[in-house]
This record gives sequence, structure tokens and C-alpha cells, in this order.
Amino acid sequence: MSAYEYETHEYDVVVVGAGGAGLRATLGMAEQGLRTACVTKVFPTRSHTVAAQGGIAASLSNMGPDSWQWHMYDTVKGSDWLGDTDAMEYLAREAPKAVYELEHYGVPFSRTEEGKIYQRPFGGHTTEYGEGPPVQRTCAAADRTGHAILHTLYGQSLKHNAEFYIEYFALDLIMTNGKCTGVVAWKLDDGTMHVFNAKMVVLATGGYGRAYFSATSAHTCTGDGGGMVARAGLPLQDMEFVQFHPTGIYGSGCLITEGARGEGGYLTNSEGERFMERYAPTYKDLASRDVVSRCMTLEIREGRGVGEHKDHIHLHLNHLPPETLHERLPGISESARIFAGVDLTKEPIPVLPTVHYNMGGIPTNYWGEVLSPTADNPDAILPGLMAVGEAGCASVHGANRLGSNSLIDLVVFGRAAAIRAAEVVNPKDRNEPANTAAIDAIFDRFDRFRNANGSIPTAELRLEMQRTMQADAAVFRTDKTLAEGVAKMKAIAAKMADIKVTDRSLIWNSDLMETLELANLMPNALATVVGAEARKESRGAHAHEDYPDRDDVNWRKHSLAWVDGNEVRLDYRPVRLDPLTTFEEGGIDLKKIAPKARVY
Ligand code: FUM
Repeated sequence: MSAYEYETHEYDVVVVGAGGAGLRATLGMAEQGLRTACVTKVFPTRSHTVAAQGGIAASLSNMGPDSWQWHMYDTVKGSDWLGDTDAMEYLAREAPKAVYELEHYGVPFSRTEEGKIYQRPFGGHTTEYGEGPPVQRTCAAADRTGHAILHTLYGQSLKHNAEFYIEYFALDLIMTNGKCTGVVAWKLDDGTMHVFNAKMVVLATGGYGRAYFSATSAHTCTGDGGGMVARAGLPLQDMEFVQFHPTGIYGSGCLITEGARGEGGYLTNSEGERFMERYAPTYKDLASRDVVSRCMTLEIREGRGVGEHKDHIHLHLNHLPPETLHERLPGISESARIFAGVDLTKEPIPVLPTVHYNMGGIPTNYWGEVLSPTADNPDAILPGLMAVGEAGCASVHGANRLGSNSLIDLVVFGRAAAIRAAEVVNPKDRNEPANTAAIDAIFDRFDRFRNANGSIPTAELRLEMQRTMQADAAVFRTDKTLAEGVAKMKAIAAKMADIKVTDRSLIWNSDLMETLELANLMPNALATVVGAEARKESRGAHAHEDYPDRDDVNWRKHSLAWVDGNEVRLDYRPVRLDPLTTFEEGGIDLKKIAPKARVY
């Protein structure tokens, strides 16, 4: 007998999350005639994609020579050779098509004099397989590209009759005989419960930046998809790789786009030195993000930080023409004024590396199908479940993502999921009968949290987790900090059993909602620190001071973490090295993407 009454909905596809990936998947599914619902905990245009600023990478060649092969090379190198070759090829090849589709859907891109889509330089994007000058590959709508994309995709999804369930919080996946058959959600504004039965569930729930104390991520980025997947007994992949964006505003963490450096901005230390020239002589301030964040951290550690506490860095834009700032970077002019009290036409902005992106997530193939790896088959597919966007791990970003490869990941793989779903979902088939035992178990768990009467308030435990992650799974890591981090995080996760929820209502209960979000953050955080402690090398965003070199012989492999309560079991799966097309068929020359030292 279920603890709650509920309403049942039948769909071909249910997408959970309405950011860029969720909306692109929703639109694609609906366009192809699948009966599609999108369930989202915030209003679609408030999803975190709205905060994406600088742009979306695609080799359009609008500003000079470019090719998908160069884009792929940069992505492989950016990933520090941990990305899967097939997925990276798919991303780079499909990117131009996906951007032109966005243009046709109505995204108001900035324009060149000739009326083409404007593209700006971004870190790690180069020409001639890293031998040539930086390329202008990042297509921009001023510095509000995510905002423009999100509004356009939402409008298009409505036009194609996708059905939206807004401010519904997804509680858990319905798993039936080894496949996903739906999802259960709580409607926040009236407290009713909803069961969505579907032939395909697509998780597009975003990252888990809020496992950390200071992040550019919205407060809604709580790894809900990862939490649901972990509870379903499935693994999370490559969670140790957490990206720190070089330019979060000091104090608030608010993002200042990499596009600022793309338009000519640069970083200085307390001596007024453009220190990136020393560390990355060729690409300087436009080196890859992990590299710039490490260099900033080193400058601060060595006593060359700026400010009273010498604990941050300056970003200069004051030398740029006011027209450029007005036309290309209007949003950050406002952010600098509001969050740093700085007029960026006159003064530098105080910045600090800030948690920005999770390279890891739910393992998928490049169609977005979720993997349930076995000893015999590391690419085994879990039927009925897909994951796209930051929630997923295809894996194109490997150990470090290039700036502006995130928005393109959202639309390329959101679109790919829709293409694949149209092949594997038959609208004429009936949905599986509802798995009432699984549904009852989901409501029982919800009810336990609703009535939790322990001794630790949610906000207190969340802060403990965030401070631990910030201190012990940081830009630089050591055996000591990681071992401490693992011990602390296991103890913190165990305290979920003693959580205290004070509000028992079902309507607009933020106390309960934040507790459920914390329960989702917890497995993501645990998998991150445990995966990091186990990885005895440095690769991309995982900078291990006791193992400063990349170790391809032993560690060019994806980590898999199964989290159960406060226990984590780790295993590994090989990186997929085969391309989609051979060189003879027009694919990339594999010699170009063979592992080598990663210098910028
Ligand atoms: O810096 C930025 O505008 C962020 C872009 C990204 O993370 O891709």
C-alpha cells in the first residue's frame, strides 16, 4: 500500500530537467512525434544554462580557417587524453550542424560585419592541431549565449507540443526488471504526487557544483540525476574531475566569462605581471582552464596574490575599447559592478578559481544511452534510460573540459538522444504496467525524509559537506588531503541518517526539498573524493601533488563509482579509442591525437 495517492501519466519519453540539454532533447523527441513530457524543478528558462555566458564551440570558420578535426584535436588534448574518441569525433563533427539548427530555431547570435555568426577565441581552442594561433571558434550571443539558447529552445518545444511539468521535483527512477520504466515526482506548489510511466527516461538534471562551498553553479545544481542513478545501483563515472573556472568573482563566485580573456582581457599578480606568459608562452591567458586555474593558485601560494590578504588575482579589461565592452560583454560589466563593486572600464576585477563544471557523471555512449558496465561488457546499455548534458558523461570532456564545449555538448547530445530515441522507442507499443512495488518504495523513502526527526539540520550538514569538498578535493590535491577528505565525507554522509526536517507540509516545503537535494549531492560528493583519492596520477583537473605526472600506462581509464549509503565501490573501464570513421573515410588522422605532453 502506497504512503501517498498519486496521479499517473503515460508518455513515450519523459525528460527530467529543462536546461539546454533537456530542452534540446525534449524538442527533438517532440519534433519526431514521440509523446514527450519534460519534468523540471524550476521554470525552464531559470535552468542553470541561462547563466552560460561566453558561447558555444563549432568550427564554422566565420572568422578564419577552422575544421572539425582541429576542434576534435583541441578537445582530445583538453581532455588530457581521457575522453572517448567516438564521442569527441561526434561532438566536433556535428557541432556546426547543431549551431545552424539553433540559428534557424531563432537564437539571436551576435553578428560579424557580413552578417555571419560572430565567433570569439576561447581557451585551448587552436588551429593546425595546436601548432597554429588561437582560433575564433566560440559562437556568441554577446555574453548571454546560454540565455538566448534556453529561451529559444523552450519556445520551440512548446511549438512542437512537448508537455511541461514545471516545479515538479523528481524523486526517483522506477526500475523494473533491469530497465527504467519511469520516474516519480512531487509537485511542489500543491503537494500532489505523480508517476510518469515511459518507454524512455532522459536525465538532464545538470551538475553537482553545490557540493562545494564556492561555485559558479546555481543553487539548484544538486546532482539530482546522479543521486537517482546511484540509488538505482548504477555507477557514476570520472567523478574526480571537477573543473575550477579561473575567473569567478572573488567573494561571490559569480562567473566572469572566459570570453573576457577571449576579447583581450588578461590576468596579473601583485607585481602587475602578466604571469600566464611565463607558464603558457604560446596561448598565455587562453591556455586551457585547468592550466590557468593552477597557475593562479601557484601565484597566490607563492605570495603574489593581490588584495589585503594576497588571496586573489586581477583580471584586466580596462584597456579594451568601451564599445567592445558594451557590445560584446554587457552582462559581465553589470556583474562586476554588482558583485565586485568594480567599474571594469577603469579597474581590474578581483577573481579566483571557482568550481564550475563536473566532467564526470552518468556514463553513456554518444547517443546518450546510460551504460551499466559489466566485467564482460564495459559498454552494456541499461534499457529505458538516457543521460545528457552535465549530468551525463559521454565522455567528451575527459579530465578537463574546454570552455564553450559545454553548450555544444548540451545541444549535440540532446539532439543525439532524440535521434536515438526515435529509433528505439515505438509509440505504438504499450508502456510496461506500473511497477507498484518500486513506486511504493520511492514514497516510503520520501516519507522517511518528510518525517525525519534527527538532530542535524539540513543546512548544517550541507555546509559541512561543502567546506570539506572545498578544502580536500581542491585545485591541488595530495594523498594527505584526499585521505582526510574521504574519512570526513564518509562520516558526513553517515549523518544523513540523523537529519532533522522541521517542516512536515507537502506544499512549498523548501526544508524537505533541500534535504532531498542534499541526499542527491551526497553520493556525488562521495564518489568525487573517493575517486580522487584512488587516482595516483595528475591528469586534467586532477592535479595530484604526490603524483605530478600523467600516467597513461596505469591510469588512462575511466573510473566507475557505485555508491551505497556512505560506501563507495570503485572499478574502471577502458577509454574508447576507436574513431567513428577511419582516416581513409574522411576521419581524423589518429597519429594527430596520440597522447603527448600537454603544453600550451
Ligand atoms: O567562461 C564562460 O563563458 C563559460 C563557458 C563554459 O563553461 O563553457
